[in-house]
Amino acid sequence: MKFFSTLAILGLAASSFAAPAPPNHVVHEKREHQLEKWSKRNVKLNRDALIPMSIGLTQRNLDQGYEFLMDVSHPESKNYGKHWSMEKIKETFKPSDAAIEAVKSWLIESGIEKERHQMSNSLAWIRFNVTVEEAESLLKTDYHIYTNTENGKQHLACEDYSVPAHIQEHIDFITPTIHFDATVKKEKKRRSLDTRELKVKPVPGAVSPDAVPQPQVTFNLANCYEYITPDCLRALYNFTNGTLAQSSYGIVEYTPQAYLQTDLNLFYSNLQRQIASGTGPTVDLIDGATVQTTTQSFDDNGESDLDLQYAIALVYPQKVTLYQTGDAVEGASFNNLLDALDASYCTSGGGDDATYDAIYPDTASGGYKGAANCGTITPASVISTSYGYNEADLPAAYEVRQCNEYMKLGLAGVSVLYSSGDYGVAGNSGQCCTAAKCAGGTYNSGSSGTFNPSFPGTCPYVTSVGATQVKPNGLVTATNPEEACETVIYSGGGFSNVFAIPSYQASAVATYFTSHKPTYTATQYNNSQTVRGYPDVSANGANYVVAVDGALSLVYGTSASSPVFGAIVTLINEQRVAAGKSAVGFLNPTLYANPGAFTDIITGGNQGCGTSGFTAVAGWDPVTGLGTPNYPALLSVFLALA
Ligand SMILES: *[C@@H]1O[C@H](CO)[C@@H](O)[C@H](O)[C@H]1NC(C)=O
Ligand SMILES: *[C@@H]1O[C@H](CO)[C@@H](O)[C@H](O)[C@H]1NC(C)=O
Ligand SMILES: *[C@@H]1O[C@H](CO)[C@@H](O)[C@H](O)[C@H]1NC(C)=O
Ligand SMILES: *[C@@H]1O[C@H](CO)[C@@H](O)[C@H](O)[C@H]1NC(C)=O
Repeated sequence: MKFFSTLAILGLAASSFAAPAPPNHVVHEKREHQLEKWSKRNVKLNRDALIPMSIGLTQRNLDQGYEFLMDVSHPESKNYGKHWSMEKIKETFKPSDAAIEAVKSWLIESGIEKERHQMSNSLAWIRFNVTVEEAESLLKTDYHIYTNTENGKQHLACEDYSVPAHIQEHIDFITPTIHFDATVKKEKKRRSLDTRELKVKPVPGAVSPDAVPQPQVTFNLANCYEYITPDCLRALYNFTNGTLAQSSYGIVEYTPQAYLQTDLNLFYSNLQRQIASGTGPTVDLIDGATVQTTTQSFDDNGESDLDLQYAIALVYPQKVTLYQTGDAVEGASFNNLLDALDASYCTSGGGDDATYDAIYPDTASGGYKGAANCGTITPASVISTSYGYNEADLPAAYEVRQCNEYMKLGLAGVSVLYSSGDYGVAGNSGQCCTAAKCAGGTYNSGSSGTFNPSFPGTCPYVTSVGATQVKPNGLVTATNPEEACETVIYSGGGFSNVFAIPSYQASAVATYFTSHKPTYTATQYNNSQTVRGYPDVSANGANYVVAVDGALSLVYGTSASSPVFGAIVTLINEQRVAAGKSAVGFLNPTLYANPGAFTDIITGGNQGCGTSGFTAVAGWDPVTGLGTPNYPALLSVFLALA
């Protein structure tokens, strides 16, 4: 961790025991289970060591966020498409003066003088330095040092903490407290091409022909079930080229993952000849990011190459913007991106959760020394991200806060898409949970256990995109449905342990339970029908031909599905803009109100956790959502709206 020096905090000091919380205090957050890779060290903390503490204040009006968003994105609303300015969003949600005063009074009464408080610009955070002794007394807790058993990293944490009951409603969460590190996982897999090694066709004037022998495979619509190309996707979803209309499409990548221009060129020369060699995304570097070329491997380049090659090809001649996020040392989280898009979400001088988010400037570990980007980037109309966590990796309060930020982006007219995961009902790396509701984030190897939903796919304010595949020897036409992806990867899907069901999907989920109730019990997943189901939609996720590190590979994953769906939304936005209308913004209410604009996927499943997972059925299902896009039908739905 960057936020305190462990050396300063260890030392010989008297042992102490926190007093039991007084009656007017309530436990605000509590860790139910110890994370397996962290072990508590039996050392005494130096009671005078300083901890930089941050209190995240609850924002106002969040309880109305859903209604505000429906007002601008429900197809039956008279305010459809009337998106908000970032300024209006900030004013609407910033914490009230009364909340700020109440929390500050508590600090002052606890001996943390006014002079020590620092407010963030957004007014969402109060920051101050406290000694271990002050922190324990303030929060009625005991702090301990934990060691990461994998990398030896040390971390300061407590197991629960309390705040006075009368101010609890004003506090989102406090750091550092119960939270632990989690890393963002990318979602894509590769399979090398079986016996036929794909080679690359030399194209005059495009790429250097010496590195690129003749391919033995001709890509065409007859072999889309083996090789997905941009042309296959256009045929499957019945769309054509982009236009030059004013629209925008952002693809998010996290350093050190990076695209190689040579790979983009190789892709164009094989699969998208009209795009000139050298065509790349518009690059927005966030928080000291670099599009690094120092290390090159499938892990370094596969995700970025895939996302950008397909996004660029499908919306061409429209430009794609790359949000390359995080430096090469700290890495970054979704919050670092969100900070760059919305000044009211970040705090100047740091303010993210040091446990999960990279904090810049990075003074401790040799990373980016500049200030974090804060509201410096105007969000694109569509933003696709192919990375994700397990819901159980992160505290619920952290997820709710981030999810509300996606709500704000929806208010601003942004469509936010996330891949739904590649392990079916299991989580990243195929792991399942050992406890009910995935509490505590303890995972097993995945042959049994509780289903492990992904985040942010379960946030009701994003559009979660699952994966399909062309049926074996299947004909590729817009009228021939695919099936759920069962090649190399399984479409992430299921039900949240954190988020309640949004009304826009209530009837679709109810129909699913009425007509196709799965046989699993509450031991495997929350079957209460009161929680968010995901994914919302799907698109092909198998056998993508992608140029990576100078060769064509086949790539699999909802990682592919999300940028493809995003490209289709971008093409719809172009047509709306050409018709003098706004971008579509938050998609889900319109999508669920128009299931007929999708090709329903009714075969295949998303196995995991020692089960066959859920099954794709008629109507919405937790494998492929509403189905795959039917572009002309979706276009006419969205063009008919104001
Ligand atoms: C906490 O202490 C550090 C190190 O002295 C200092 O840089 C920082 O500004 C302090 N933070 C606050 C909120 O006073
Ligand atoms: C799509 O782009 C290609 C290459 O520029 C062009 O040949 C083709 O006519 C375009 N198709 C449509 C429908 O505009
Ligand atoms: C594709 O869309 C066009 C309208 O743009 C429609 O006329 C055609 O029938 C569609 N093709 C299929 C196979 O559905
Ligand atoms: C399912 O979710 C609901 C709503 O959050 C909750 O009340 C219930 O306890 C959950 N059930 C289980 C078995 O976790």
